[in-house]
Amino acid sequence: MEKIKLASGHEIPMVGLGVFKAQNGQETEDSVKWALEAGYRHIDTAMIYGNEESVGKAIKESKVKREEIFITTKLWNEDIRQGSARQAIENSLKALQVDYIDLYLIHWPAKGFVNAWLEMEEFYKEGLVKSIGVSNFHKVHFDELLPKANIVPMVNQIESHPRLTNYDLINYCKDLNIEVQAWSPLGGGSTAKELLANDVLVSIGKKYNKSAAQVVIRWNIQRNVIVLPKSSNKDRIAQNIDVFDFELSKEDMKSIDNLNTNSRVGSHPENFNF
Ligand code: A2P
Repeated sequence: MEKIKLASGHEIPMVGLGVFKAQNGQETEDSVKWALEAGYRHIDTAMIYGNEESVGKAIKESKVKREEIFITTKLWNEDIRQGSARQAIENSLKALQVDYIDLYLIHWPAKGFVNAWLEMEEFYKEGLVKSIGVSNFHKVHFDELLPKANIVPMVNQIESHPRLTNYDLINYCKDLNIEVQAWSPLGGGSTAKELLANDVLVSIGKKYNKSAAQVVIRWNIQRNVIVLPKSSNKDRIAQNIDVFDFELSKEDMKSIDNLNTNSRVGSHPENFNF
């Protein structure tokens, strides 16, 4: 599995399993178990998903060693606003049954994110977390954060898929040595069906004997974006990591880029109400 080295020196696998909306309990446990069996070594959760406990349980029960798995979780907005990051990370460590987290992210730029970041720098120095980053940050948020930060975020996890290629933000981050991760890479939950039926994606897939989802995942890898497809289905989980045996041509990459309509499926980072 291809990896990227973060500014911390730690490597992150290019494809991770997303578990947003997977129910705590059987659904999440099965998804993580199937993912590890299929070769995933990167799981992306968040406190607010409510399934850290099942992610932790599935990892513990698997035959894969903890240190071989890259685990991301995120600091939720309430904890950012209330200044309770320390309690939040302790709760996450406990729920996940681990003594360190690979990547801890500020989930959204909620009021108080600068102070939360300074606390996260402490967690990093203490070894509670191997790498730290942000999510849903735009330039305006970095403009506020960077003058106060001692450590530049190592990652920015943003909405990105062929309808929201997000190259301006990606290039801004890459210039700062901030690696980018794509959430809702397949077009997100109930709307993924529509994107994955797109003629351009389907016909590119046919050339390589791959599905539209595999084409989109591969497109992210080739544009150096870490990609977090969500699935709770055993076959689709396996399919989504079976993307290392083909390479999209320059023309195909361009055709996918051209599907951009700057359309979001999630909230706008500069105007969200949660
Ligand atoms: P399911 O969990 O039933 O597989 P995103 O990652 O953009 O949020 O998209 C997730 C949605 O896409 C989920 O509804 C998921 O459904 C579906 N999905 C995930 N992988 C595939 C795939 N390979 N083919 C078709 N749909 C997929």
